[in-house]
Amino acid sequence: MITTPHINAEKDAFGKTVLMPGDPLRSKFIAENYLENAKLVNNIRGIQGYTGTYKGTKISVMASGMGMPTIGIYSYELFNFFNVENIMRIGSTGSIQEKVKVRDIVIGMGACTNSNYASQYQLTGTFAPIASYPLMREAIAQAEKADANYHVGNILSSDTFYSDNKTENESWKKMGVLCIEMEAAALYMNAARCGKNALAILTVSDSLVTGEETTAEERQNSFTQMMEIALNTAVAVD
Ligand code: HPA
Repeated sequence: MITTPHINAEKDAFGKTVLMPGDPLRSKFIAENYLENAKLVNNIRGIQGYTGTYKGTKISVMASGMGMPTIGIYSYELFNFFNVENIMRIGSTGSIQEKVKVRDIVIGMGACTNSNYASQYQLTGTFAPIASYPLMREAIAQAEKADANYHVGNILSSDTFYSDNKTENESWKKMGVLCIEMEAAALYMNAARCGKNALAILTVSDSLVTGEETTAEERQNSFTQMMEIALNTAVAVD
């Protein structure tokens, strides 16, 4: 048994790939609806990590919670103490481009951030957090196969959901950034530092351009497509 401050599980409790939604109830939903023989392997703070098989491949799903500090903690511990090689965040995002519509899927090739997370590495410039190319290439192939409406590009991992700066989205938009979420950059940096692989696959839950939002049912359906892309990617790279 390995006990870290946030995970209490056997060393081999997790699959090579962990899918990481923000919400613990999503973790439970994936385990119950997609994984065979799913077993709860971690429940510290109710974060709900499950391991089972999908198309014969051992895969885990564990929640991250919201924000860079929390996904930073879980991804660090999974990469460093539990032999996990790939972490794929599957989450929601707000669009800041007209062409990125609600219910579309965004594959985060790069993750800009307004967070200071990279300062710990003491680099003499700015680090560009990027997705794992093998994971991204496979996820794109799976998105094509699923006939999904998807975009690949830069995203913004923001420290604030409620920002006092009402014009900042416009600046990121001008740089071609597709959408805003709150976790990918820390995940990509941890993967880089650990020599592991990470990818964020997102569904657009709301548009910060048009104000359009998805209903709970629509969110569920687009979530299903994103999840299947992630699961099939995990199987292909195992
Ligand atoms: N901002 C940050 N994260 C999000 C948003 C948003 O507007 N929508 C969904 N996740």
